[in-house]
Amino acid sequence: MVRTEFIATGMYVPERVVTNQELEGYMDTSDEWIRQRSGIEERRWAAEDEGGSDMAKVATERALEAAGMEADEIDCIVLATISPDHFFPGTGVFLQRKLGVTGVPCLDIRNQCTGFLYGLEVADAFIKTGQYRRILLVGTEVHSSGIILSTEGRDTAVLFGDGAGVAILGPTEEDGRGVLGVRTHADGQHAEKLWAPAPACVNKPFITKAMIDEGLTRPFMEGRDVFKHAVTKMPAALNEVLEIGGFSIEDLDMVIPHQANMRIAQAVAKGLGLTDDKMYINIQRYGNTTAASIPIALHECVQEGAIQRGDLVGFTAFGSGFTWGGALVRW
Ligand code: COA
Repeated sequence: MVRTEFIATGMYVPERVVTNQELEGYMDTSDEWIRQRSGIEERRWAAEDEGGSDMAKVATERALEAAGMEADEIDCIVLATISPDHFFPGTGVFLQRKLGVTGVPCLDIRNQCTGFLYGLEVADAFIKTGQYRRILLVGTEVHSSGIILSTEGRDTAVLFGDGAGVAILGPTEEDGRGVLGVRTHADGQHAEKLWAPAPACVNKPFITKAMIDEGLTRPFMEGRDVFKHAVTKMPAALNEVLEIGGFSIEDLDMVIPHQANMRIAQAVAKGLGLTDDKMYINIQRYGNTTAASIPIALHECVQEGAIQRGDLVGFTAFGSGFTWGGALVRW
């Protein structure tokens, strides 16, 4: 039986570290408030001319090196982002051009914090059917250009960070290894609970100076509602994929949650009865990097040896849309 395995992972975060103390200089907030409500201590911000495809290029080069592969061995790019380089075309083609792999398909995915898992579901199906053999799966975000550095935008400005994470996926026939299950969900009833109203093609023209002046391009969030849904949907998504494989929580060696908020991760762990050492958290250093958060956490986990070959690894995510999902991988 053919399954999808992770051949290699890679990550890149911009050099610039932005501490909570630095944010205190832009808005009415405090290091204490941010740490207590979210667990975040610092995040990274991309340089002036650094886009999501630039960061993804470096992360990909690192993964290729780890895999001992050349870029032209990639036969498909699946890229998740909510902060594209440009309004169109998709960011995947800019990454493709920078990697020099002209001709392979580039599929952009817009499923916010669940984007990497939506991408994994698609890539897994492509690999199982034999459509592609070396898929580059990317999550990359530049949030620093969308947040508003004032008290008005403080509820979201303190939470989000920039970065990129990638995985190179391919087929394996090794018994019991690889992606055992992926399930994704959405409920558009809640679309406006975490969203950026502009630019918006429902308006003509899709962007005006008034929209910018009103701050409609920044993220708006009903934080408490997002929190409430996240702490129920994330454990449910993990349980769903465990059931597919006939596993239970005790079988898991590591869980990599989307890094939305330390308190969300802790509530999910508590709800599932997971001990702290089985849930990987790095939000302290990067904030919420949306589609990039799971692949960045996965890469760090692998680098630190917190995931070993043969381990059962669970993934769970929740985000804007609302979207949510889970995945289970025998590493
Ligand atoms: N610094 C200081 N004060 C802030 C602030 C900031 N950055 N952001 C909001 N506040 C203020 C609010 O204005 C409010 O003030 P008020 O009581 O005078 O009206 C107060 O802090 C409490 O706000 P509230 O929204 O009730 O706080 P909370 O305890 O719910 O925490 C979040 C806010 C955003 C941290 C929390 O709701 C949360 O974690 N939600 C989920 C967010 C998330 O994970 N989003 C991404 C999902 S993928």
